[in-house]
Formats: sequence, C-alpha cells, structure tokens
Amino acid sequence: MSRGTVIDLCYLVAAVSFILALKGLSSPKRARAGNLLAAAGMAVAIGVTFAQPHLDHVGLIVIAMVIGTAVGVPAARLVKMTAMPQMVAAFNGVGGGAAAVVSITEFIGSDPKQVATYKVLEVVFGVLVGALSFAGSALAFVKLQELITTRPVVYPAQQMINAAVGVASLGIVLAILITSSTALIWVLLALALILGVIFVLPIGGADVPVLISLLNSFTGLAVAASGFTLNSNVLVVAGTLVGASGMLLTRMMSTAMGRSLPNILFSAFGSVVTASGATESADGRSVRAGTAEDVGTLLAYSRKVVIIPGYGLAVAQAQHTAKELADALLARGVDVFYAIHPVAGRMPGHMNVLLAEANVPYEELKEMDDANPELATADVALVVGANDTVNPSARNTPGSPIYGMPIINADSAENIVFLKRSMRPGFAGIDNELLYDPKTTMLFGDAKDTLKKLVAAVNKA
Ligand code: TAP
Repeated sequence: MSRGTVIDLCYLVAAVSFILALKGLSSPKRARAGNLLAAAGMAVAIGVTFAQPHLDHVGLIVIAMVIGTAVGVPAARLVKMTAMPQMVAAFNGVGGGAAAVVSITEFIGSDPKQVATYKVLEVVFGVLVGALSFAGSALAFVKLQELITTRPVVYPAQQMINAAVGVASLGIVLAILITSSTALIWVLLALALILGVIFVLPIGGADVPVLISLLNSFTGLAVAASGFTLNSNVLVVAGTLVGASGMLLTRMMSTAMGRSLPNILFSAFGSVVTASGATESADGRSVRAGTAEDVGTLLAYSRKVVIIPGYGLAVAQAQHTAKELADALLARGVDVFYAIHPVAGRMPGHMNVLLAEANVPYEELKEMDDANPELATADVALVVGANDTVNPSARNTPGSPIYGMPIINADSAENIVFLKRSMRPGFAGIDNELLYDPKTTMLFGDAKDTLKKLVAAVNKA
C-alpha cells in the first residue's frame, strides 16, 4: 500500500470517528465517550498531516500548535459553566477567522487568472462566511462577557443598512468571480467583517446563544470551503458536519424557545424588562414567602417531588446540593426526579452537564415531554433558579415574548416552591404570574444556601 493510500485511509478513519462522535454526543450517557472519540479522530487527522510529503513550514505549524494548546487547554479547564457560551463564541470565531485566512492565502499565492471559476467561488465563500463568523463571534463574546450592553443595539434604518452591506458584499463576490482581482478580496474581507458586526448588534442577550450556534454552523461551512481550496477531504467532512449539526442545533433551540429563526435574528427581542425586584407586582399583588423548615417538612412528607432546575442553579453552583436534597428525599422513599427543559440555562444541555457533574444518575433526569404528564400527580414542583421555562404566559398570553414556547407544567403540581433571590425576571425579562399563584411558596435567597437549609430541614423532619 502506498504512503498516499495509508494517509487517505487514516483521514477516512478520522472522518468516520467524527460522525460516530456526533451520534454519541446526542445522549448524555454517551456524550463523554463521543467527545473522546472526536478528540482521538482529530489527533489521527493532525498526526497524519505531518506524514504528508512536501509539508512546508513545519516549524511554524508546531509553534502555532504550541500557542493554541497553551491558550486552549487552560481556558477549557478553568472556564465556569456559566461562561461556557462566551468560550464557545471565542473558539468559534477563531475557527472562522482561520478559514478566511486560509482562503485568502491560497488565493493571493496563486495566479487567480489561471484558476477555475469554481475554485475562486470556494475562496470567496470561505472569506465571506469565515470573516463574518469571526467578527460576529467576537462581538457575541464581548456581549456575553458583558463588556458592552447585552441588550439589542438598534438604530434607525438598521435593516436597510444591513441589507445594503449584504448586497454590496454579493456585488464584490460577483466582481471577483468575473475579474479574479486579488485587490478586491481585501474589500470583500472588510465588508464581511462589517457584516458580522452589524448582523450581531441587534441580537440581544436572550438570543445570543442561538446566534452562536448559527455562527458555529457558518464557521463549519467556511472550513468546508477552505477544505475544497486545499484539496483536503477531512476538512471538507469535518466542516460540513459542523455546518449541518450547527444548523440543526440552531433549529432545535429556536423551536424549544417557541420562536422562528428569522424572529430571533431580526426582531431585537429582549429589549424590554417589565418585572421589578420588589416582592409585589406592579398591580399590587403580593407573594407568599415561606421558610426552609416548612418547605423541608412538606418535601419530606410528599410522595412525589419534581425538581425543575434552571439558569440560577448554574449561577449558584448548587448542583451538588440539589443532589444531596434529592438523595435525602429518595432515602425517605419519596419519588424524586429532575424535569429538564430543552433551553433551561443558557446553552444546549446546560442542566444535563451540570447534573452529570454532580453524578446525578441519568435515570433521574426526565425530558420535558416525559416530565409534564407526571407533574399533574406531583405533590411539589421545586423550581430551582428557573423562571421563563415554567412561566404559564408562554401558554396563556398571546403577545408575550415567550408565547408559544413549550414549558414545564410546574403549575399543575399540587404545590409549587420557587428558589430564587428576588422577584427579578428571567432571561426574557418578563413577569411570571406563577410567582403570585396561591399554590406557590417563595424561598428567597441563593439557591445553594436555600438547598442546604432544605437538606437540614428534611433530615430533621
Ligand atoms: P431564567 O428564566 O433566566 O431564570 C433564571 C432565574 O434564576 C432568575 O429568575 C433568577 O432570579 C434566578 N437566579 C439567578 N441566580 C440565582 C441564584 N444564585 N440562586 C437562586 N436563583 C438564582 O432561566 P430558565 O428558566 O433556565 O430559562 C432559560 C432562559 O434562557 C429561557 O428564556 C431561554 O429561552 C433562554 N435561552 C436559553 C438557551 C439555552 S440553549 N439553554 C439559549 C438561549 C436562550 P433572581 O435574580 O431573582 O435570583
């Protein structure tokens, strides 16, 4: 077997491992193995690339890899779960930028007049989409890190300006295809960077995670385009997988939020905050605040308790204490499980990852559709740092920003207990009528502290 065949076979093994890894990532049980398989496939792909004949600039490649590893490994190890979306944004942006740079280097390093039109098309696609993804992801990072406002930034004639820059970029793409001008590629790069910024500006904090998933998909497509340019099958396969899975994830996230993708991208959602930090609503309704002792007794003598975790669980890092409470209840013979909303938290699988970290058995996690019928027979729905994902206005209030979003039916349980610090709203910035329900008890405070008190109260009961 020739060296070329062995190299191609190794790339094939890497590509197949990426596909199997994606399959693994679709279930919490197999996600870790899937991730390791993808990493192994990537190691094979990188390793075999060094076996390529005529590989230039090996020293520079090694230096770049050392720098990338020195930045990437500590960043991934030290990142807090709540900061994961911005880390994904940063890493994704770098991928898009790299794809754009590869396309430009190949283009200006060749004689564009001798290059087939389809090759030029690959280059302009890689530059346009890669640079857009780079600039958009960088801005999304800055927003999520709260270095600038997380709210949508809107200004007059915004959609017209965006459309004009979009049309100008397509015009330059056409001009490059016709003239093969290398100078115009720099103009395209500048326009794509501007487009990335103005595309992301009107998208607010609430919708930025969905945007990141979309930009992730763009990066994949740009990488696939640079794979065509470099004649690298493994880059084409890996880029296409990222592009397709990112697009599917984007769709799933928007469906779980009950909104269409165009609505998320173009409607500047999340710019209004209607609820206050008070314990009374604007129309004077008050809420019932309880004590950990009373709620602990209620939980201890219940038959069925459903824990509904949300973003506040991640903020409070209360996953281990939540498990302690569940274990204390299970030990008393109470039927306990966690109801997981698909967009609870700030990124896909946020709750699953947190609870897996606390070694909560997968059997105790129920997806929304399986959990909802059970809530009608539950004694207590214990809502830990969640808000929008149990807000009945998604069901009852046409015109609400979350109207149409499927929710966990906490309101059908016999008792509802909210663990949160104040009456402040969740991500969508809207009041939650369930907080004022006569069946609801509020336990104000940091979720971890309150859960600790509940564990003590249950053990005492
Ligand atoms: P949210 O509706 O954002 O509510 C979280 C609640 O946690 C807040 O009301 C907050 O109230 C409370 N909280 C914060 N820190 C806390 C702490 N230390 N201790 C106790 N409570 C704390 O969360 P959710 O129900 O998980 O809903 C997720 C939202 O994010 C949805 O609107 C969803 O559409 C959106 N979103 C999710 C995703 C993905 S993929 N997960 C992507 C985009 C958007 P206090 O401030 O009063 O404590």
